[in-house]
Amino acid sequence: MSMVSVRGVTKCFPTATGFVNALSPVDLDIDAGEFVSIIGPSGCGKSTLLRILAGLEQHTTGEISWGSQHGRDKVGFVFQEPVLLPWKSALANICFALEAFGIKGEAANTEGRRLLKLVGLDQFADALPSQLSGGMRQRVAIARALSYDPQILLMDEPFGALDLLTRDKLNDELADIWAKTGKTIVLVTHSVEEAAYLSDRVVVMSARPGVVKRIYILPFERPRSEATKLLPEFHRLMADLRQDLK
Ligand SMILES: Nc1ncnc2c1ncn2[C@@H]1O[C@H](COP(=O)(O)OP(=O)(O)O)[C@@H](O)[C@H]1O
Ligand SMILES: [Mg+2]
Repeated sequence: MSMVSVRGVTKCFPTATGFVNALSPVDLDIDAGEFVSIIGPSGCGKSTLLRILAGLEQHTTGEISWGSQHGRDKVGFVFQEPVLLPWKSALANICFALEAFGIKGEAANTEGRRLLKLVGLDQFADALPSQLSGGMRQRVAIARALSYDPQILLMDEPFGALDLLTRDKLNDELADIWAKTGKTIVLVTHSVEEAAYLSDRVVVMSARPGVVKRIYILPFERPRSEATKLLPEFHRLMADLRQDLK
């Protein structure tokens, strides 16, 4: 069943000298429970598309329809740089988000600790963001996005600023979280390996104004592991994706 359906969506930004066409008509369907990655050259409108899906930005023309049980009130968003309150602990950052949904006190603490455990940070509940590594801060941001119990998690290059080892580790954790929670995930990335490793489908966008150029359906079994990355099909896919990006 389609969770969200994007039809003929365009985005035109007014600028000082005229306007920028960020998205040419984009058509895309995302199914409930799917893991979809979006790749494309810099400036092709990936972030714009994600922000439109989140309701953070209005599209210019076209239509976005959500399945009956789904809505944009149930969207979690993870940015490239984790946006945390620096004076609040990891747990307090999550409890603060839960409070917005009326979950307070002991109930918030319990739920916050459950989410920290899910992202492997149960030992760091009381740490301040400044006491955590970049990867750990991003995990807090993921836990916070999950605190809204969103049906869909939109992630805009969440691991782009991390070193490769940390990124690989977080990729495995994200796959695990996805398997455990059954969330729908849309991940924007510029790593073809990350896209190939995590996704059910990879959407390739063309240069600005972005359109959907190609969609790959990935056959690799789950759970995936380092062995997946050694498969000849995996290497062929990465080569195809790199070619598409040229
Ligand atoms: N608020 C804005 N005002 C004007 N132009 C914008 C704005 N946001 C994005 N753009 C332009 O739209 C295009 C697509 O941007 P973006 O979605 O950030 O691309 P990507 O995430 O794929 O790198 C770029 O040319 C960018 O400069
Ligand atoms: Mg972007």
